[in-house]
Amino acid sequence: MRTHYCSDLNLSLNEQPVTLCGWAHRRRDHGGVIFIDLRDCSGLAQIVCDPDRPEMFHIAESVRNEFCLKITGKVRPRPEGTTNENLQSGEIEVLCHSIEILNISITPPFLLDDENLSETVRLKERVMDLRRPQMQKNLRLRHQVARAFRHFLDEHGFVDIETPMLTKSTPEGARDYLVPSRVNAGEFFALPQSPQLFKQLLMVAGFDRYYQITKCFRDEDLRADRQPEFTQVDLETSFMDEQAITNLVEKMLCEVFQKALNVELEQPFPRMTYDQAIQRFASDKPDLRVTLELVDVKEAMKNVNFKVFASVAQKENTRIAALKIPGGANLLTRSEIDEYTQFVGIYGAKGLAYIKVNDMTEPNEKGLQSPIVKNLSPESLQFVLEKTKAQNGDLIFFGADSEKIVNDSLGALRVKIGHDKGFLNNKKWAPVWITDFPMFEYDETEKRYNACHHPFTSPKDAHVDLLNKEPAKCRAKAYDLALNGWEIGGGSIRIHKADVQEKVFAALNISQEEAQEKFGFLLNALKYGAPPHGGLAFGLDRIVTMMSESDSIRDVIAFPKTQRAQCLLTNAPSNVDEKQLRELHIRLRQQNQQNQQNQQNTKS
Ligand code: AMO
Ligand code: AMP
Repeated sequence: MRTHYCSDLNLSLNEQPVTLCGWAHRRRDHGGVIFIDLRDCSGLAQIVCDPDRPEMFHIAESVRNEFCLKITGKVRPRPEGTTNENLQSGEIEVLCHSIEILNISITPPFLLDDENLSETVRLKERVMDLRRPQMQKNLRLRHQVARAFRHFLDEHGFVDIETPMLTKSTPEGARDYLVPSRVNAGEFFALPQSPQLFKQLLMVAGFDRYYQITKCFRDEDLRADRQPEFTQVDLETSFMDEQAITNLVEKMLCEVFQKALNVELEQPFPRMTYDQAIQRFASDKPDLRVTLELVDVKEAMKNVNFKVFASVAQKENTRIAALKIPGGANLLTRSEIDEYTQFVGIYGAKGLAYIKVNDMTEPNEKGLQSPIVKNLSPESLQFVLEKTKAQNGDLIFFGADSEKIVNDSLGALRVKIGHDKGFLNNKKWAPVWITDFPMFEYDETEKRYNACHHPFTSPKDAHVDLLNKEPAKCRAKAYDLALNGWEIGGGSIRIHKADVQEKVFAALNISQEEAQEKFGFLLNALKYGAPPHGGLAFGLDRIVTMMSESDSIRDVIAFPKTQRAQCLLTNAPSNVDEKQLRELHIRLRQQNQQNQQNQQNTKS
């Protein structure tokens, strides 16, 4: 129907006849001349409708926003002073000869240029929201990114193999989405949390290099960077070690950034162990654009008079850390310190002690301004000043609590102050590999160890003996890639030997029967000469969110769910009728209660 897309038009087509198809983005009636900004998937073009073609002009008068139009006309330069540098077609306009209204539109729910739309409205009216140029840009970028991943993987011998969506529970540790089986009464499939087990089976089956860009489903609490269904770029390889896999993946990410964004990431990416990352940044996904760092001061606080610090210092699994803000004594106002104290409260911190360093030569109540100085010993103060390398004018924050609370709160505070106050290096993109994750984390409520990554992750060779002795100290061949403070990918070398796998199950308190029942198909496969193998998965949605500089992961997914895991467009999830439930052998509890209530009511 068309000869050109709007953004194809430029001065080289001067005087040429063109036919365009698209939507009326805006119609401006300049008393005598009507301008229509025609929008198609490529962008906008300005259409000029003169009254000297009365039939066409009459139609132009009836055009409203979002009418679907076919326009024929002639390209001409815009009059001097009216060119628009922001538009690809900004040097020209199209003098309209004829307009065909392909379809009318009811009044749109909002103006597509409106930048203050509520997300609820946008998600309810998603189709119109997706017409907005920003959303078009985001989803096209997503396509470019996926394409670049595919290209790299195809070029490097990876085979794209689909794995089942209706499957058994997988071990990523979130809650499963379950699907009832009609044919097998009372039994359920789980939607995959990732293709983890199947990709390992494919390695045993000899495929050597597998990949898939695929949906994963996790019923977990949602945040700005999480969706219940999200997309992984998932890969697995045989006969490659940690270094080889991370090198290859790094090369891939660089190529993706280059192809999709024309950005050259600096190589090699920095690497640090999990322990180093926690120590310096209180996070396993540190934002390395932020220049602030933490230091540990627990050892100097065991005998101080400040009870909060002393009691924490005397316990295990606790942390007392200091965060120095250079020049913070003057930079941060009293009320800002109060706001930051409230902020760390979100992460469970009970307070945010601080010291303003006014005069280093007087490391006491005279030179240091703080609610806690009088209760800290001269030695402990000296220790803090030395360890933080403080200078006059600096401010030092403190967190003292369980390791988790201190890391969560000071880790977040570091990033917040870094961005609020500009403690940033000049890097736009700061990727970092985090390696040597712990094998296990202790669940205080359940009083047991859980796998940090998943139970098929291999321990470091030197740590196999720690599995049953000191599981907390055991480190894994697991690696994450963090970018600007977000975890964008994670993976590991897997266990390929039955004896090591048994030890890991024992450390996790998983009995042989339970292991067999849950993962028997994998354990059996491992017996057939399983090759050493490992892999990784990237969160595609997260990468595109960062690349498009979107605020939320929902802005790079065509039809996302809300924070409450609902689709406002289709109203899913929704009730189903009794017949469907019956076929699935399901009776709802609520309905049960309602029925009982009804029965009681009838009796009484
Ligand atoms: P993991 O659980 O770390 O590893 O997931 C890999 C990556 O997927 C992204 N991601 C998410 N993105 C959006 N919403 C979510 N709810 C969500 N959950 C995870 C993250 C994360 O880094 N099978 C292993 C991979 C492997 O070992 O090869 C796995 O799934 O960016
Ligand atoms: P308090 O003795 O409760 O008046 O606290 C003195 C200072 O220590 C205040 O600035 C509190 O914000 C801070 N504070 C209290 N508990 C903690 C903690 N667990 N970690 C860090 N600072 C704290």
